[in-house]
Amino acid sequence: MSGSNDHIAENARRYGKLAIAEAARLLQAGKLVAVPTETVYGLAADSTNPEAVAGIYRTKGRPDFNPLIVHVPDLDAALRIGEFHPLARQLADKFWPGPLTLVVTLRPDAGISPAVTAGLDTIALRCPAHPVMQELLRDSGLFLAAPSANRSGGISPTTADHVRTSLGPAAPAILDAGACSSGLESTIITTMGEDYTILRPGPVSPEDLEKVAGRKAVAPKNKGIQSPGQLASHYAPSKPLRLDALDASPEEFHIGFGDVPGDANLSAAGDLAEAASRLYALLHQADASDRPAIAVAPVPVHGAGLAIADRLARAAFRS
Ligand code: TXA
Ligand code: MG
Repeated sequence: MSGSNDHIAENARRYGKLAIAEAARLLQAGKLVAVPTETVYGLAADSTNPEAVAGIYRTKGRPDFNPLIVHVPDLDAALRIGEFHPLARQLADKFWPGPLTLVVTLRPDAGISPAVTAGLDTIALRCPAHPVMQELLRDSGLFLAAPSANRSGGISPTTADHVRTSLGPAAPAILDAGACSSGLESTIITTMGEDYTILRPGPVSPEDLEKVAGRKAVAPKNKGIQSPGQLASHYAPSKPLRLDALDASPEEFHIGFGDVPGDANLSAAGDLAEAASRLYALLHQADASDRPAIAVAPVPVHGAGLAIADRLARAAFRS
């Protein structure tokens, strides 16, 4: 388990136990803190404190109909907040701690601020694997609401610098634990019974889920927005972005993959997990460059490539 003593001792050496204790104190006092997870940095607040939660929406410029994920230290904590059918439990047992978010029915007695779920009777729960985040959850004793720590609609941050660039002067204290390892937001699924639906592809692939669930995901019932991360334009840089680009014009910052070198390469070895972990860092780099446009080399659409293709399509879409 990631919260083991070995991990905590190692964190204390690498990131400073004091830093974690200070972050816990700020969060208990109702302040926001940007926190590391294995996927992307989150903008965290106490999920039971309405003013603190309001601060998340304000800081991100996030529409108040877009609900937040609540982060818990383990399944026991999650069971106090949501109702888990056997399949939800099975998936949590297998993939937690890790990059899987489960949308389940909210327990009315959970004490979660209604703004967290945007008034829905469901809640998104995730038990992150990052040892620093694990220790923060345990130290603070809080259930932390945390969306990605970027301006709403922008590119998700995988380093503390990205958080500063995206939120600017509104950025709160940042618990800096270096670059995030997985680099793409968690897979989100909803499961209220025997079936499950993928709301957002991510590091846990459809094949991974199918192996544990013993069946394929069911397609979303209504085509309406169940998860605004599903909006056509999201995770977007400020510049036009062109996909499947084998070469690029001098006006374009070219993000390469495999044999297509580019100005910077997602993975020269053609490794999809490496590409996923570097995608947002390279989009931030391209956005900050002096070229007015971005072009991205083709990336195969299987395994981790599915989530990469999903994020690139939304980054490229202009309404
Ligand atoms: O990896 C991650 O999931 C990161 C880290 C910080 O944990 N968090 C993250 O949060 O990506 P955010 O807010 O950027 O994306 C959460 C997504 C949103 O698209 C939101 O609409 C969806 O989760 N969501 C939250 N609650 C929901 C619910 N009750 N039903 C359906 N979708 C929900
Ligand atoms: Mg986000």
